[in-house]
Amino acid sequence: MPVTAASQTGTPRDTATLPGLKGLDVQGKRVILRVDYNISQNPDGTLYDDYRIASTLPTIQRLLSGGARVGILTHRGRPGGRVVPELSTKPLAAILSGLLGQPVEHVPDCVGRIAEQAMAELAPGQIVMLENVRFHLGEQMNQHSFVQQLAALGDVFVNDAFASAHRAHASTSGLAGAMDTCVIGELMERELMWLRRLKNNPDKPILLVLGGNNVESKIELLRQMLTKVDTVMLGGAIANTFMAARDLGLGQSLLDPTYVDAARDLLTEAGVVGCRLHLPQDVMVRNASAPTAPAEVRPAYAIGAQESVIDIGPATLATWQRLVVSGGTTMLLGSLGITEHPEGRTGTLGLVKTLTDRRGFSLVGGNGLLPMLQDSGLRELLPALSTGGAALVGGLIGRPLPSVDVMF
Ligand code: 3PG
Repeated sequence: MPVTAASQTGTPRDTATLPGLKGLDVQGKRVILRVDYNISQNPDGTLYDDYRIASTLPTIQRLLSGGARVGILTHRGRPGGRVVPELSTKPLAAILSGLLGQPVEHVPDCVGRIAEQAMAELAPGQIVMLENVRFHLGEQMNQHSFVQQLAALGDVFVNDAFASAHRAHASTSGLAGAMDTCVIGELMERELMWLRRLKNNPDKPILLVLGGNNVESKIELLRQMLTKVDTVMLGGAIANTFMAARDLGLGQSLLDPTYVDAARDLLTEAGVVGCRLHLPQDVMVRNASAPTAPAEVRPAYAIGAQESVIDIGPATLATWQRLVVSGGTTMLLGSLGITEHPEGRTGTLGLVKTLTDRRGFSLVGGNGLLPMLQDSGLRELLPALSTGGAALVGGLIGRPLPSVDVMF
């Protein structure tokens, strides 16, 4: 009988009861460890950031020290069932090996004879990285025969891929339903605990700071959160879209014109439900006709036709820092500026610094933030920095997370 939360505790759906690694005997067992190392590449071919890899080290170290024989399974990109060499997991094996301080051999497939043999030959405490699971069409189709092929690789399934928890794919919910022994890893446990903490009586007032470039996903999140939070602060492209809804000139700034009407509706709705919604009162701009000139401060109502917003301004930052200091719980999702410009990082880093200095729970998310958090040394100071993108947004608004839901 599969080891599931329900069979262990008999309690209804509560992620706190999902079985984890504690007490699990993995000595000599072949463990399939699903992680999410879906990390994009910089134009020079280097990987964008290693946070998703570093976050899984506690699980991996625990498994290896317990004598497990570990095969790492992940997807990268959206190759759609084809072999796309640029999306191979080979460079990930090298990075993981460096972080772990032990060899991590790359296996050129994730199922079939090659993969089964690689797993069979592992000694306790050894680890391999299997090839991108999305090179097979059966992955995204959650095809039964592909799930069976994956399941043949191991005795135990450990799911530590929080960032894929919203996907019902063969290597996530498929394997979780098919393997007799299925547990969550330490990263998944931490991420679900943060979501629970936000759901169950979070300290008030609750603040939501939203930024980033993807307006569509943030608009939906905001719509769902308006009645759950006390204060919202908007930066990045979503702020520009809301400023356009207030008929402010945005010059050349990044915004999504298809959501201006929705933004207008949300401004009204926020007033009706009593949620205080803050847009930047001042912004940092660059001028398209003087690309090397330093950024300048503008009041939000005075952005020139050739200018584009690259960050919130100093007065806005100071106001928002004060709000965050007196807040009970803060969620910061996405960067408040164009982080490719060093000058576009000031607002986000200033606010994150305040979060690390204050008491009270803060959850930070958004992959666009990761490199600058690492460069600034703030990454390690944040108690709750999520690896999730869409999975985190889904979890916050109560959407299903099939790869963990299937364990109940
Ligand atoms: C992510 O980066 O959000 C996850 O890896 C999911 O990727 P996907 O949207 O391609 O499924």
